[in-house]
Amino acid sequence: MALMTLAYVSEARPGLSLKDLKQILRRARENNFRRHVSGFLVFDGVSFAQILEAEAEVLGALMAAIEIDDRHHGLRLLLHESVAERHFPQTCMGCANLAAPVHLDTSELRGLIRDVTGSRQLGLREALEFFDLFSHFRTPEQAALLTL
Ligand SMILES: Cc1cc2nc3c(=O)[nH]c(=O)nc-3n(C[C@H](O)[C@H](O)[C@H](O)COP(=O)(O)O)c2cc1C
Repeated sequence: MALMTLAYVSEARPGLSLKDLKQILRRARENNFRRHVSGFLVFDGVSFAQILEAEAEVLGALMAAIEIDDRHHGLRLLLHESVAERHFPQTCMGCANLAAPVHLDTSELRGLIRDVTGSRQLGLREALEFFDLFSHFRTPEQAALLTL
């Protein structure tokens, strides 16, 4: 069986609330735990960026569901390739919310998500660096403030 990874960006439905985001995450975490899907989701108030890792068949079925979800649109695939191992093995769906009202300077992170939403393709290394940044930010305390 082939382990695959995939990353995409999309635009959130206008007016998407924190409650909506929490609902997406709750379902994602339940499903992903059961289906051995790992990954990370970034939300900046406008765009989503998500990386997913799973067996090819599981990932295909999940993406078919995600693509038709009306809580976002304009989905663009940035990365889709096979990998030898998981890079988020312990995380059935981590999430960083850059729209969180925290007293942190997140301008650099917001700039990064804009860069990524503008890219047509990402290499695996670039994608991992991007998502790693959000899971670690600068200090664990700062990362925790953005974590949902
Ligand atoms: C940005 C975004 C990311 C999502 N990520 C996941 C995910 O990682 N796993 C998941 O099961 N559903 C995810 N969903 C939700 C799916 O689109 C879909 O609603 C869900 O898988 C349906 O689950 P159900 O068949 O258990 O009702 C996401 C939705 C959005 C808008």
